[in-house]
Amino acid sequence: MISVAGASGNVGHLVVKELVRMGVAHIRLGGRNRHALFEIAKEVPHADIFPFDLTCERDSMRFCEGSSVVVNCAGPSYVILDRLAHAASIASAPYVDASGDYPVYKLLLARQTSCTALLSAGVLPGLSGLVPRWMAKGFDHPNNLSTYVGGLERCSTASTIDMLLSIDGKREPHGEPLACWRSGRKASKALRPAKNLEIPFVPDRVNAYPFFSIESERLARDLRLNNCDFWNIFAGEKLIDTFIQQMGGNFSEDHLAQALEDLNQAATLDLLGRKPYYMLVFQMDGIANGEAISRTVALRTHDAYRLIATTTALSALALVEGKATEGIGFAAEMVDPDWAVSVLQQSPSLDAFEIADRRYGENAIEEGKI
Ligand SMILES: NC(=O)c1ccc[n+]([C@@H]2O[C@H](COP(=O)([O-])OP(=O)(O)OC[C@H]3O[C@@H](n4cnc5c(N)ncnc54)[C@H](OP(=O)(O)O)[C@@H]3O)[C@@H](O)[C@H]2O)c1
Repeated sequence: MISVAGASGNVGHLVVKELVRMGVAHIRLGGRNRHALFEIAKEVPHADIFPFDLTCERDSMRFCEGSSVVVNCAGPSYVILDRLAHAASIASAPYVDASGDYPVYKLLLARQTSCTALLSAGVLPGLSGLVPRWMAKGFDHPNNLSTYVGGLERCSTASTIDMLLSIDGKREPHGEPLACWRSGRKASKALRPAKNLEIPFVPDRVNAYPFFSIESERLARDLRLNNCDFWNIFAGEKLIDTFIQQMGGNFSEDHLAQALEDLNQAATLDLLGRKPYYMLVFQMDGIANGEAISRTVALRTHDAYRLIATTTALSALALVEGKATEGIGFAAEMVDPDWAVSVLQQSPSLDAFEIADRRYGENAIEEGKI
């Protein structure tokens, strides 16, 4: 049985759907709203409805008991922190978190318990780190990586709060705006926001904001990259302008509510009359089979939340099927990348998974589409 906390949330209910699609029949559904859980249960062959509040330690432990994997989709993550991860470790159940990120990683390490926890098992962070690790396996040595993530999409409460807090000037940073990786080390203030960019496979010209996250830094270090950039991309004007205004802000409860409303409104205005899409585009240069190449991999979805849910669900399945390493860490580094990409490619969450190679000294581009 896989137990999903936050099963009624934007990510959680889609994780439940994905698990059912992947063949998991017995799922425990957790959250505070009993009625919402009953609605979700209609889609699950064997649902175990478990209304509970994560702030209650005893109930959290009961929720984890008898689980083969505990999945956390409850948020915001800065409130939930390691409560459920701790309860799962006491119940000896491996744990997957759609969020969690470095704050939970540090808390779990500090507890010095031996458990398995796959954190940041979403898209950003998550797939944003996993796909380049998969790509790197096709290179003798990768040199440079540029990543573009975003598009046109809606905002949800918990994830937007987590995103805002990740750029809160007073909290521990999740990364550094305008930074990147140059000549094998982090370079601060090396990039500027860019307007009207053309990016392979992205249908619109986009505005882009550079943000070098801790995930990108680990990736650059692990793959021993020379250069590495990460760009959040926006196919509209309103959301990026509002996002830049929020940068470095200090988010007290009142400010947070206002910032959340502003971002939601901006996202809605950008979306007016347009179809949502979300893309992850990775451009990696290096030597593959003795030849210098540039490889682009582009993932496209019409619903970012479905892709997040697929990544969270496949991380849980990886634990069941022995496709993830044990210990405390990040899904992008612990799930077998070949297996994960093959599961992703079969998922209806993705509208396209495309690969294009350019060989240096040639004009020709070889394209592959999966
Ligand atoms: N890595 C990524 O790419 C990525 C992307 C998006 C989101 N996320 C993360 O995913 C998480 C969920 O985001 P979301 O957009 O799905 O949020 P959401 O729609 O607001 O859902 C939050 C869920 O948590 C439950 N919940 C909240 N507090 C609870 C508590 N004390 N006890 C039990 N259940 C509780 C809520 O249910 P009730 O109110 O019924 O209790 C609801 O089901 C967030 O941490 C977010 O940061 C990660």
